Amino acid sequence: MLRTQVIRVDAKVPEADTVALAAGALARGELVVIPTETVYGLGALADDADAAARIFEAKGRPAYNPLIVHVASVDEARALAAWWPAHAEALTRAFWPGPLTVVVPRDASKVPGVVSAGGPTVAIRMPAHPVALAVLRALKRPVAAPSANRFQQLSPTTAAHVLKGLDGRVSMVLDAGPCERGIESTVVDCTGEHPAVLRHGSITLDELRAVVPTVVEVRSDGPEDGTALRSPGMIRKHYAPRARLVVVRPEALYDALRATSGRVGLVTHHRDYTATATVLAVALPDEPKGYGARLYAALHMLDDAGCDVVLVEAPPDDGAWAAVRDRLARAESS
Ligand code: TXA
Ligand code: MG
Repeated sequence: MLRTQVIRVDAKVPEADTVALAAGALARGELVVIPTETVYGLGALADDADAAARIFEAKGRPAYNPLIVHVASVDEARALAAWWPAHAEALTRAFWPGPLTVVVPRDASKVPGVVSAGGPTVAIRMPAHPVALAVLRALKRPVAAPSANRFQQLSPTTAAHVLKGLDGRVSMVLDAGPCERGIESTVVDCTGEHPAVLRHGSITLDELRAVVPTVVEVRSDGPEDGTALRSPGMIRKHYAPRARLVVVRPEALYDALRATSGRVGLVTHHRDYTATATVLAVALPDEPKGYGARLYAALHMLDDAGCDVVLVEAPPDDGAWAAVRDRLARAESS
């Protein structure tokens, strides 16, 4: 067990001494949890195989599931790629810094195999959070960082969520308050003829298509075992609370509530519901960005409150809600 140091840091103007401390720990090969605009990331040097391997150990993550490498500029990303696809150039110019991850051919002399689960590609993103950027700039090296949760558990959007899973397993947690986006980055494979969305995320398909009209979607219900996946994030069981989660059509919500026993959590976005002694109700915003920003925090809270079952009012079918629907479907199937 490590003693995990939690340090408050200003989310907009990070203190230079704190940034230097985090960069120093990373440079020594240690694990440092860093806030990003999406979720908190469990960071380690991406160009050091031993450091990167510690991430898998701390998370309990299987070695077949590759990591996202974080960089401070498009140039740094290009330097990690065997070659830099035109689609990666177009998409990163449009969305970086921001919640877009591009999958490009990996330069094996720059990125060790352990980061990419031995595959020929590497996933890279430039985060938009001032703290993450400041640490990357101070370190001057790429940082591999999956979401800072134990394997298959809910992603963290606060430092308190991080500590639930990783206290004693990392050297340091930089606490910059809640993450603004709350849903992970959109992962886009740029190695083929057309860019392919491997994981829905904070940037929508429509937003991507406004830049590259030919972006395609990859079927997101891969096999259970994580083998032969284009993106192992497609493992069904993922992003899951401890409680059993059930997505319910709005018109069936009251029947479902009546039929469910035990301590019940309810997440709505459209219908109003007043909490009762046995139902703990959370009303989220009725638009996808605000909803996404608070979804994981709501599920963490309902877990902490000891809910056995969480009923979630099904979100609308349109594209802007795709990432929210995807995360709920994964949480539900576990
Ligand atoms: O918003 C985010 O992306 C957060 C923050 C911390 O940056 N990170 C994150 O990492 O969500 P993680 O490890 O929880 O999810 C990484 C996703 C997985 O779905 C993984 O399979 C996919 O990216 N991925 C990583 N490398 C890949 C590669 N070379 N090819 C295809 N998919 C890859
Ligand atoms: Mg994750």
